[in-house]
Amino acid sequence: MRVLITGGAGFVGSHLAARLLAEGNTVTVIDDLSTGAWRNIASLEGQSGFRAVIADMNDAALLERELPRTDFVYHLASAVGVRLVVERPVETIRRIVEPTQKLVDLCSKYRVPVLLTSTSEVYGISDRLPFREDDPVTIGATVKPRWAYASAKMLDEFYLLAHYKETALPVYIVRLFNTVGPRQTGKYGMVLPRFVTAALAGEPLIVHGDGAQKRCFCSILDVVEGLLRVSRTPEAVGSVMNLGSDEEIAILDLAKRVIALTGSKSEIGFKSYEEVFGADFEDMRRRVPSLDRARRLIGWQPKYTIDDIICQVIEDKQKRGSEE
Ligand SMILES: NC(=O)c1ccc[n+]([C@@H]2O[C@H](COP(=O)([O-])OP(=O)(O)OC[C@H]3O[C@@H](n4cnc5c(N)ncnc54)[C@H](O)[C@@H]3O)[C@@H](O)[C@H]2O)c1
Repeated sequence: MRVLITGGAGFVGSHLAARLLAEGNTVTVIDDLSTGAWRNIASLEGQSGFRAVIADMNDAALLERELPRTDFVYHLASAVGVRLVVERPVETIRRIVEPTQKLVDLCSKYRVPVLLTSTSEVYGISDRLPFREDDPVTIGATVKPRWAYASAKMLDEFYLLAHYKETALPVYIVRLFNTVGPRQTGKYGMVLPRFVTAALAGEPLIVHGDGAQKRCFCSILDVVEGLLRVSRTPEAVGSVMNLGSDEEIAILDLAKRVIALTGSKSEIGFKSYEEVFGADFEDMRRRVPSLDRARRLIGWQPKYTIDDIICQVIEDKQKRGSEE
């Protein structure tokens, strides 16, 4: 297959690219390195079948050139990370809505199936756990910039589904929950790389809020396997699927596990959300996916435990050095 990955120099995209290439596919990555990095794909450069185009994907002429020679698109390019979303809401919306519409219109024109990586943020402030794909969603108020990301991604979902309905374009939508592993940067607010970097440097691990908020962390290796299975499952066309872990851990406990597994002498500190993200920030206490659909349609469930994942991140950070 000739595969195009938008955002392929990012955390998820670079792992996906490596796996698809190893399977013998031809892989083209388009990435403007806004939050991604060249080092993520440096080991792929020069391998037969791999090509990187360093450019903004919001360019119809570029997409017009690429899509006629593409069999499948994984659309990952997006603004990401809570910090970026609250600090740069204009960029967040611009990077999500318009490029997706341009891409999907052209996918329809050239009849190229497309998979979108959406997000658990779409579930908003809902407390009906576990989150099921077809449940109604409740987003926070528009004066809270965080919800711009969720709403923009939701509009992307609507746009793909609209094309599925109106132009019979095969579309796949995956809602990723917290995905973690080697190569993820903590620069844009992701908690695990931040904690591991601090622990290895002997600096305090800063917990936002009281640390009792819980999240489910899934290994990037499990997520890549899930993305591939979704894209190869005809029954998944035209629907939405959660991919993530359903094992919860409180953020304070995550900090303690990181300290234990690094053997660090770091202490744990606390900062209020207001201090970190400003007064208009809103968080949710829990976020758990229902994995029923993933189990039923693609026979998938995560294999790696939180300790496995923390150890993989520690090893990666020790190898690569801090990038913060
Ligand atoms: N990692 C997670 O926990 C998580 C959770 C939910 C959803 N997602 C989704 O998964 C996808 C990948 O996220 P990630 O964690 O790998 O983040 P990432 O920042 O590492 O990857 C996104 C990539 O898109 C690129 N990009 C952004 N705008 C672009 C543009 N206009 N043209 C070309 N390239 C552009 C960035 O440079 C980056 O390499 C995103 O769609 C994100 O919304 C990720």
